[in-house]
Amino acid sequence: MQRKFDPKVFQLGYVALATADIERTRAHYLATIGLTETAKGEDGSVFLSIGFNHHDVVLQPSKQKALLHIGFHLKPDIAITDFARQARDFGFRAGTKTDSQPGIAEMVEVEGPGSNVFQFYGAMEAPAPGFKKTGVAPLRLGHIAVISSEGEKLVKFYQDFLGFWYTDDIGGVATFLTCNRDHHVVNVVNLPEARVHHIAFELKDNAHHALAADTLRAAGTRQLWGPARHIAGHNLAGYHHDPDKVMIELYTEMDTFIPELGMQEPRPWHEYFPMKPKTWKITDLNAWGSESGFDLLKG
Ligand SMILES: [Fe+2]
Repeated sequence: MQRKFDPKVFQLGYVALATADIERTRAHYLATIGLTETAKGEDGSVFLSIGFNHHDVVLQPSKQKALLHIGFHLKPDIAITDFARQARDFGFRAGTKTDSQPGIAEMVEVEGPGSNVFQFYGAMEAPAPGFKKTGVAPLRLGHIAVISSEGEKLVKFYQDFLGFWYTDDIGGVATFLTCNRDHHVVNVVNLPEARVHHIAFELKDNAHHALAADTLRAAGTRQLWGPARHIAGHNLAGYHHDPDKVMIELYTEMDTFIPELGMQEPRPWHEYFPMKPKTWKITDLNAWGSESGFDLLKG
C-alpha cells in the first residue's frame, strides 16, 4: 500500500491515570488485574508492570480522575531530538525530558490536540518482574480509546504526524488507527468530552475470558458489556469499570492488519472479503447480536 511514510512509533507503551482513590485503584490493578508494582514516585505515583516492561500503567494520586498522558515507543531509528523538532515543525509544543520518571531516561513530551499529552521514548528499562499467577494476568497493554471534542484534530495528529494507518470507523464517531499489525492501537471517539474511554489488555487466549470474568466476579466487579465479539476489529471483548469508573477492556482475537495490503488478515468470522477499512454502522458493535443494555460508545 503506497504511503508517504511509515509510523514513527511501533507500540503503545503505557497509560498514566490520575486517581482520587489511589489505594483502591492500585489494589484493583495489582490484585484483580494482576500487575506488579515496580516503582513509587515522590508524588505517590505507582508504576505497574504486566510482566516485562518497567511500567504499562501509572497511577498518580489526585483530587479527581484524569487521563494524564499516553506513552508510545519510538521506532529504533528515530532520534529523540529529531522527533522533538519534527513535532514542533508540525506546530505542537514539544520538550525533551531527562530522568523525569522511573524506567525512562529520556523522552519527548508533546502536547497534542485537545490537551492530550503524549510521551515518546526510545528505551524503557525492562526489570521483567514476571507475569502474575493470580488475578487476570493479561499479556500486554494493547490499545487505548480516548474521547475528545477535538477528535478530528487528534485523528490527524495520529495519521499525519505519527503516520498511523486508518483501519475502520464506527459511524464517523469512533476512528480506529494502528501503528503496527493490531487492528487498532488507538481509538479516537469524537464527542464533546475529554477523557479516556477505555484501556485494553490482551488476554492469553479466548478461554481466559471466562477465567477473567470469574476473577472479576470474585472481586465484586461486574461486567458492563460482553464478553462478546465486536464487528470492527472482531476482537472478543469484555468490559468492566476500575474503581474510578475508568472502563477496562479485556480482549483476544483482534484482527491482524496487513499494512502492505491495506486489509485485515482474513478470518472465518469476517462479514466480507477482503476486509478493508470502512465505516460501520453505529449499531454494529456486537457480531453475535446478544442483548446489551449498556451504551458502549458513551462508556
Ligand atoms: Fe477497545
